[in-house]
Amino acid sequence: RIAGPCSLVIFGVTGDLSKKKLLPAIYDLANRGLLPAGFGLIGFGRRDWSDEQFGNFVKENMQAHCRTPFKETTWSHLAKGLRFVQGNFDDEQAFTNLSKTVSELDRDRGTMGNHAFYMSVPPKAFPEVSRQLAKSGLSHSTKGAWRRVIIEKPFGHDLKSAKELDRVISSVFDPESVFRIDHYLGKETVQNILALRFANMMFEPVWNANYVSHVQITMAEDIGIGGRAGYYDGIGAARDVIQNHLLQLMALTAMEEPVSFSAADLTAEKTKVLSAIRVPKDLEHYTARGQYADGWQGSEKVVGYLNEKGIDKTSTTETYAALRLDVDTRRWAGVPFYLRTGKRLGKRVTEIALEFKRAPHLPFETTATRELGANAIVIRIQPDEGVTLRFGAKVPGTAMEVRDVSMDFSYGRSFTESSPEAYERLILDVLLGDPPLFPTTEEVNLSWNILDPVEEYWSTLGQPQPYASGTWGPAQSDEMLERDGNHWRLP
Ligand code: BG6
Repeated sequence: RIAGPCSLVIFGVTGDLSKKKLLPAIYDLANRGLLPAGFGLIGFGRRDWSDEQFGNFVKENMQAHCRTPFKETTWSHLAKGLRFVQGNFDDEQAFTNLSKTVSELDRDRGTMGNHAFYMSVPPKAFPEVSRQLAKSGLSHSTKGAWRRVIIEKPFGHDLKSAKELDRVISSVFDPESVFRIDHYLGKETVQNILALRFANMMFEPVWNANYVSHVQITMAEDIGIGGRAGYYDGIGAARDVIQNHLLQLMALTAMEEPVSFSAADLTAEKTKVLSAIRVPKDLEHYTARGQYADGWQGSEKVVGYLNEKGIDKTSTTETYAALRLDVDTRRWAGVPFYLRTGKRLGKRVTEIALEFKRAPHLPFETTATRELGANAIVIRIQPDEGVTLRFGAKVPGTAMEVRDVSMDFSYGRSFTESSPEAYERLILDVLLGDPPLFPTTEEVNLSWNILDPVEEYWSTLGQPQPYASGTWGPAQSDEMLERDGNHWRLP
């Protein structure tokens, strides 16, 4: 799968995402031989840069963050197709210049009129950039060439604004040329959820309410908000990652088997399950929100959210969010799905754990099963990618005693192939025009529909419950599970 001739224009090219993820991913794709000979990369930004200065910036960031070895040969080939266009998003002349630059690349690098536009900019800039692209004639293709637009989250702030955003974008671009990025879908381990479930015989028969007691989806981060105060404050943990990453993980875990892995078949099953998700009526007891306070991350003393640079001292933005969701289908009736995410937690880990019911009868003495927990299947999304099965086994010795043991599959030990970074996979898919790994508008809207009542309820509350940095979140969250007789796993 090698992309055909094209150019990629990045709006917001000097931002963090571009520096750490997009530019390195482009380098890695080139290094793996997946980009075409006719490839152009255009940065659009406010800085007064020449192509050469832009080249230095790109090289520095590719070198600093690429995952494959940095080779001068790969770089010098890429460098020939680099251009910089200076301007503001509302500057018509800059878009005329952009139009000229892509045409020059068509001529000089053979990019053949195929162009992708990456909006790595705040959502409030999408409408203006879209309008300017339309005005300059860049949004629609001519003579069989293609135009595609890549949109980074957040896709709006709630259902209403998401719909408005969609209206603006779809007035400029054809729906099939819009690619919404949820980078979790580009992760190997996330794609493996469907492989695990549907390529095997032994998991699916127990993947339902008859056997599963509850499901825990955890996305824990040890980092704070870093330099992202401007983006994060007022958005918070639920809008930042539950609306997208965690609900996508939940959809993949709970959905029925798709007819095929085509975009249409996948989204048909995902939307079905997203429509069946029910938010609890008792939002007070089945949601939790927290804000990190001063504390320790390992041996490093770290400041609380309210003391982070750029954060208002009275901010009520949550940095931890948890909630219980139910799925109204025959497969999942009565099985709670608990979702949690937070910054400055005990460690960085993302996992999906299916906790099973207890065996209906244990033919052992009570003392023999003291250390026996429930069976579990844990899909380890990151960082230690793999799958763990937990079950009971006899403790060696003369007594019949049973204890929990685990069986591990680890990507590192089982495969010699290295995993491409999520952005590598997703950028390549856009250039190939391959949509299965991109959430559709309908999925985005259904996800807001789930989150909106929770956010609305939270907006009536005051300060989120503080939790010390380096711990596992506010007590409220533990109480939420205890109410159902469950408890969070310690990953
Ligand atoms: C992003 C969020 O979507 O995902 C960030 O905006 C978060 O707040 C990041 O840190 C985590 O991504 P990953 O791939 O490191 O789990």
